[in-house]
Amino acid sequence: MAKEIISVTVKAQKADPIAAKSDLLAVGVFSDAKRDRLCEAIDKKLDGAIAKVRKLGDFKAKANTSALLYGDGKVGAKRVLLVGLGERAKATTEAARDAAALAASKAVELKAGRAVLALHTGFGRRPGAGELGRAIAEGAHFGGYRYDEFVTKSEDGRLKQLAVSVADTNADKVRHLVAGVRAGSVIGRAQSFARTIANRPGNVMNPPVLAAAAKKVAAETSRLSCTVFDEKQLKQKKMGGILAVGSGSVNKPRLIVLKYKPPSKARARTVTIGLVGKAITFDSGGISIKPAAGMQDMKLDMSGGAAVIGVLKAAAELKLGLHVYGIIPSAENLPSGTSYRPGDIVTTYSGKTVEVQNTDAEGRMLLCDALYYAVEQKCDIIVDIATLTGACIVALGKHKGGLMGNDPGLIKQLQAAAEASGEKVWHLPSGEEYLEEMKSKIADLKNIGGKGGGACTAAAFLGQFVGDTKWAHIDMASMESMFEGSKKPGAVGSTGFGVRLLTTYLMNAAK
Ligand code: BES
Ligand code: MN
Ligand code: ZN
Repeated sequence: MAKEIISVTVKAQKADPIAAKSDLLAVGVFSDAKRDRLCEAIDKKLDGAIAKVRKLGDFKAKANTSALLYGDGKVGAKRVLLVGLGERAKATTEAARDAAALAASKAVELKAGRAVLALHTGFGRRPGAGELGRAIAEGAHFGGYRYDEFVTKSEDGRLKQLAVSVADTNADKVRHLVAGVRAGSVIGRAQSFARTIANRPGNVMNPPVLAAAAKKVAAETSRLSCTVFDEKQLKQKKMGGILAVGSGSVNKPRLIVLKYKPPSKARARTVTIGLVGKAITFDSGGISIKPAAGMQDMKLDMSGGAAVIGVLKAAAELKLGLHVYGIIPSAENLPSGTSYRPGDIVTTYSGKTVEVQNTDAEGRMLLCDALYYAVEQKCDIIVDIATLTGACIVALGKHKGGLMGNDPGLIKQLQAAAEASGEKVWHLPSGEEYLEEMKSKIADLKNIGGKGGGACTAAAFLGQFVGDTKWAHIDMASMESMFEGSKKPGAVGSTGFGVRLLTTYLMNAAK
């Protein structure tokens, strides 16, 4: 059986970072701060070692840089990692999150199983200790993650566990840190869970296996339930889009529905939010087959669905005061004698017909059924997330996801959540002109548009299935595809994009 992913735990505690015994102490350093009390105190203990690396210019404390020193018995930690926070005036929670990710990633590399973090101490009043604690816990989970389930060769001393402790001597600060770290750990764990689900290859992860994983999450989490529609039920319901996409594989499609019910006192007047996530467990393109180069990355085409499962898990653990549906249509897009074909006309769950012009535009074919299902469940707001188009990567590169939708207020709320969570999005258009391109002469819609603006035409297509419901669409293709070259510390593979963004959005909506 595959081995366990490194278990990361994060807590906050009242302790002196200088004296605390650990394998590694990570200290945050601003590039321009003249005086920093903690740094000066550690420097004194280390006989000026920090001043020396800074003077040599080996460490300028820029964001996403670090320098390693050794404790030599002069401080409680065996190693001292200086972590750059960039300019003090520009430093946000994101700087703290990134610094924690870098520190945790280094700790894993160095096999330093016990790490103490003092990354927050120089921030002053804003952001507050609660917010910093949350970001630091999220970052530690992110940076400590590695996908190595199937690596059997012994890597000598590979950590089983990374125990991270955020230390401060001020009891009042610690109280806020504890609360922040608790929420951040829930979100960080959910994100790592989503990454593992997405990283599992197509021969291991397929629609029925994904459905079983979602059921397991629901069984382990209170207030979370899960219903799965199998192929027979999809046929009964006439979910023609999901069925068409799944028709080429022996691994039959599923519609997974997770439902979170808030604690009873919050229940009465809350909104219902539907989150819809694309879960193509492998996208070969189908009959419109993709080129061989890079096709292996298409095991990540279920990242939207994985993120939605992660968000539902986090929402339940945080006991948020709103109703949430997690609706995850899942299929494997393969070419075979039973596949759907270019030219087919598919009747979708909504009753609208679609002329298939390219079987590789499969995401929208199954999302449209899931979106219509969300409308039927009377969701007040629907947000879908999907690795939908290569065109979105062309438009935005790997730093931001695409955001489209039919409601300016919802767009604003998602933009705010994106900023706060560090999972960024950029608003793209998807209105009437784009919809024009999606009209078919022989059906209601066709599944591809003209030459340019592929992310926008895809969104215009999806928008046809939500009626008047407030709806937004996040195209996360860019965030999951270019992982090898990503500057983010730690693992190759899935980034778990969307878990922090959508959980933050739900937390704000529940306020
Ligand atoms: N899953 C892909 C989109 C994708 C491409 C994600 C690259 C990540 C990296 C999607 O199903 C797809 O194949 N889209 C096509 C649509 C086209 C046929 C209109 C694309 O973008 O090429
Ligand atoms: Mn495709
Ligand atoms: Zn796809």
